[in-house]
Amino acid sequence: MNARRSIVLAFALAALLPALGTRIAAAQEQEIPPKLHWSFAGPFGLYDTEQLQRGFKVYREGCSTCHGLKLLAFRNLADPGGPSFSEAQAAAIAASFQVTDGPNDKGEMFQRPGKLADRFPPPFSNDQAARAALGGALPPDMSVLAKARSVERGFPWFIFDAFTQYQEDGPDYIHAILNGYEDPPAGFTLAPGAQYNKYFPGHAIGMPKPLSDGQVEYTDGTPTTVDQYGRDVSAFLMWAAEPTLDVRKRLGFQVFVFLIVLTGLLYFTKKRIWHEVKRHPELLEPRQPTEYRS
Ligand code: HEC
Repeated sequence: MNARRSIVLAFALAALLPALGTRIAAAQEQEIPPKLHWSFAGPFGLYDTEQLQRGFKVYREGCSTCHGLKLLAFRNLADPGGPSFSEAQAAAIAASFQVTDGPNDKGEMFQRPGKLADRFPPPFSNDQAARAALGGALPPDMSVLAKARSVERGFPWFIFDAFTQYQEDGPDYIHAILNGYEDPPAGFTLAPGAQYNKYFPGHAIGMPKPLSDGQVEYTDGTPTTVDQYGRDVSAFLMWAAEPTLDVRKRLGFQVFVFLIVLTGLLYFTKKRIWHEVKRHPELLEPRQPTEYRS
């Protein structure tokens, strides 16, 4: 390398370093949610049916008054690979919600109990109504929230995450938000109606702490703590956002097995085809130039 080139390289490095520095600083500014263990993590991960059922209960009793699930239909609750409620259970859940239907013969919209084919009804008729009821803050629809939120984990984590296939930052974030309510540090001023949350970007969240220990009853002996509720509802929201994760992972595994078998077959086919040539290496010698005779 000549001298001029190394000077250019040194300048380029010097220009890059502050950029890297701000990246690290930005990552440290937002609190990184703890990485939890999820049954659906990794290449063989699958949803835990019982956890999804508990998570649905937490959603129903703790979140559904504010957050919608507009992309999810009641029949999905009975789909394989999900909470796997029986069809009768899913129909009973649907009937316990009121959905808007119509117009009827008089041209009016009316309310009726939900059916399996209906989607989850929105908790507010429009965004303005939600904001008016909640002091100006808008609760996002939760259909794809678990996949729509990710966390900038910064250097060097994003390199490791590529190798460990870390994709659960959405559920980690939701769990962290539910467990991140704290007293604000001295000198932090909160706008009226806002709460301090360690993991919310900017720390001032417009959602009042939605869960407390013992609020949702579990019948299977699972601890009724905010930590556990957070895990269960985040897993349920992950399923809502990606209901075919089980199928995707199983198919991916089958494709890998197929490719490994195919590689073996191709190897032996190649050996077989080139077998004769290997036995007669002279066939591989370059041909003598043709002699022309006149
Ligand atoms: C009283 C209404 C209310 C209830 C109940 C409620 N939330 Fe919220 N939630 C909100 C509002 C409002 C916001 C928007 C906050 C903001 O933007 O400052 C929000 C924001 C959130 C966010 C952050 C979303 C983002 O944009 O990053 C998460 C995660 C969340 N809620 C999860 C839940 C879960 C899980 C439950 C049920 C256990 C729940 N919420 C119950 C009103 C509610």
